[in-house]
Amino acid sequence: MSLPKLQPLLHRLAETGRAAVPFTLDGQPASALVGDTVLTAVLTQAAQLRRNEFSGAPRAGFCMMGACQDCWIATEQGERLRACSTFIAPGMALVTGRSGA
Ligand code: FES
Repeated sequence: MSLPKLQPLLHRLAETGRAAVPFTLDGQPASALVGDTVLTAVLTQAAQLRRNEFSGAPRAGFCMMGACQDCWIATEQGERLRACSTFIAPGMALVTGRSGA
């Protein structure tokens, strides 16, 4: 299940000149910039990373430094990534509707 399309949570204000990195988000083409974390890449496209596996509540990370475990996101291949400490890479296929568990 994909999350509803809402306004992106993050809006890029600076460093817009870095090279583009193509990836897919819920099967749709998307673009980030070189050096973006997966968290930044997703939240500049969407309002949430995923839904909590227990409550179903939307999640978007919390600590942004690899400590809280709130930013897991799944790939189409079923891999689980910590979005705040993983850099986006060309061709990544990310899925927001899964728990990442
Ligand atoms: S936001 Fe806390 S571990 Fe990623």
